[in-house]
Amino acid sequence: MFKRIKQFYNYMTANVDAEDKMYLDKCLNTDERNLFDKLSVHEQKHSINVAKDVENICDKNSMNSSNLVKAALMHDIGKLKAKMNIIEKSIIVILDNISKGRIKRFTKLEKIYVYYNHPDDGAKILEELNENSRILYLIRNHHNKSIKDDLELSILKICDDRN
Ligand SMILES: [Fe+2]
Ligand SMILES: [Fe+2]
Repeated sequence: MFKRIKQFYNYMTANVDAEDKMYLDKCLNTDERNLFDKLSVHEQKHSINVAKDVENICDKNSMNSSNLVKAALMHDIGKLKAKMNIIEKSIIVILDNISKGRIKRFTKLEKIYVYYNHPDDGAKILEELNENSRILYLIRNHHNKSIKDDLELSILKICDDRN
């Protein structure tokens, strides 16, 4: 419960400061940075916090953190793309007409769609930037509970959950 309150507080007060921007300059190339900047401020801050958290764990355990930090910064980038496809959109528009606007309540469905699809959508977006396959794998599986034997992925999941 306390964790959720803290997350809500962080969400409300999110701010990407000069130090964060330097960190982003250090970790991301121009294409990645352009995408990252399209995320909402609270998503940006969340991703920066996840990245610094994974980096800390890697440093303490003498692990190479380059893939993991980049995956952490970009892990929720699919939230940019996770919109309804054209058929779903058309159905919504038709239903909206028939129901005279009462369909608005179904915006919740879009949130559910985003929740389930943003890991895959994120990986697809980054594939277009020729991101390496390990980073794509980490992003694609950051909500996959069935993979338990991948140390880097486990670190990403833990840090995602506590930031
Ligand atoms: Fe996510
Ligand atoms: Fe996340």
